[in-house]
Amino acid sequence: MQDIIEELNRRREAACMGGGQKRIDAQHARGKLTARERIELLLDDGSFEEWDMFKEHRCTDFGMAENTVPGDGVVTGYGTISGRLVFVFSQDFTVFGGSLSESHAEKICKIMDHAMKVGAPVIGINDSGGARIQEGVASLGGYAEVFQRNVMASGVIPQISLVMGPCAGGAVYSPAMTDFIFMVKDTSYMFVTGPEVVKTVTHEEVSAEELGGATTHTSKSGVADLAFEDDVEMLMMTRRMFNYLPLSNREKPPVRPSTDPADRSEHSLDTLVPENPNKPYDMKELILKIVDDGDFFEIQPDYARNILIGFARMEGQTVGIVANQPLVLAGCLDIKSSIKAGRFVRFCDAFNIPVVTFVDVPGFMPGTAQEYGGIIKHGAKLLYAYAECTVPKVTVITRKAYGGAYDVMSSKHLRGDVNFAWPSAEIAVMGPKGAVEIIFREEKNDPQKIAAREAEYKAKFANPFVAGHRGFIDDVIQPHETRKRVCRSLAMLKDKQLDNPWRKHGNIPL
Ligand code: HXC
Repeated sequence: MQDIIEELNRRREAACMGGGQKRIDAQHARGKLTARERIELLLDDGSFEEWDMFKEHRCTDFGMAENTVPGDGVVTGYGTISGRLVFVFSQDFTVFGGSLSESHAEKICKIMDHAMKVGAPVIGINDSGGARIQEGVASLGGYAEVFQRNVMASGVIPQISLVMGPCAGGAVYSPAMTDFIFMVKDTSYMFVTGPEVVKTVTHEEVSAEELGGATTHTSKSGVADLAFEDDVEMLMMTRRMFNYLPLSNREKPPVRPSTDPADRSEHSLDTLVPENPNKPYDMKELILKIVDDGDFFEIQPDYARNILIGFARMEGQTVGIVANQPLVLAGCLDIKSSIKAGRFVRFCDAFNIPVVTFVDVPGFMPGTAQEYGGIIKHGAKLLYAYAECTVPKVTVITRKAYGGAYDVMSSKHLRGDVNFAWPSAEIAVMGPKGAVEIIFREEKNDPQKIAAREAEYKAKFANPFVAGHRGFIDDVIQPHETRKRVCRSLAMLKDKQLDNPWRKHGNIPL
């Protein structure tokens, strides 16, 4: 018996060494942690249950029969974060460059299948040279098996991708189908074709970092949600975000009790909106002042900065925040911001997270770049997302809510449950200046008349009461009582029930 136990220990130790000390040292020298060290930091101490530690590849070509490593380049299993169940896989770059073989894919699929059965999220740590070149099509099949599961799990369990090394070619499509992608600056990259192919095909010279690094994807392409300085920071922040989320679509998000009073007044908000409607202000200040403990987990902070999205808590309950940001492009909706917010609203809706929307939007961004880029279809994504969304929706219009953008931003007409406006709200087809220039075009050379018309239009429409008369606004509230009113609304909506008609699936404008 003793022999067998020793043999087990020996095998375990060998598996834990992955591709050997030399390659582990090389991983560390690059500022990267190993697959196992990452899992250790991500999960609660001692909670990791590893599976398939002894699984090996079955490839016999190119001398691979003699070249096997237990675990085959990916560490898989489950554990807990803050005591809550999560499944993980972590690709081991020290073993065949973390490349994906058929066996490697089977290990990932096994934990994904279990996560679906029990209803728990999957966090995937990607650090891989892509398809195991020696295996050929078997490896491609493995990828597709993972892709299929990503799609089946979408909207059922949260899926988070941590890109902590190379992720190139078709391999990028697994993270792309998960809910969130985090990247580490300088040590991770994602691209469909690398710099060499780019150079050959388009003659562009670009580094891997520029083409697909963390900064590129969190500020230019919007492919990734957050960029971190190093592995440790990313893993800690992943734990933080995980705590906002439910384990699956079958349950509500966890409640974290807070000592922040639900009826806390915030008098500084009474002067947040400037007198001059063309002057910007920072919408983030409003968010930080009304959520529990000023704690806002912002997603995609460096992309489409004209809209803010992220998680927060109100009376301990997770909410998704969507807010126009007047500081950037006057808070206009454009292609990027519509996609950014639309996808976030759909995530919240899938996972029973109420959506709180703050509105200060002068409309959709004009211009050929937007029209040629398809703002009609992309803007419709946000409209579609809000309209199909059945979770509690609370909306606060702080200032402008003009035109189609008024409708889009969780209006009453898109089944907004509680719609508030501040006294400074201007809910109209367009701003007074633009409106007067159109309806009184013949008076445009008479500045006095135009000024009088503008004042008349402003008095008539640039306020929340016209919408209030029709019941499109449930109440006009004092800015300082916003937290109290939103908390009460969410409490009232706690057991909201609303179902969309049965269908195979809708056809969101892609
Ligand atoms: C097998 C691989 C591998 C792969 C790396 N290795 N990628 N083994 N299949 N895809 C091995 C290397 O042989 C090496 O083994 C070890 O991993 C580390 O690789 P290095 O090249 O020494 O590391 P580095 O210099 O950091 O370069 C990393 C890299 C490079 C940029 C990822 O390895 C690389 O370009 N690999 C090939 C990438 C690729 O073309 N993959 C297939 C893409 S197609 P030793 O024994 O020396 O340590 C694809 C399609 C997916 O992925 C389709 C899905 C639908």
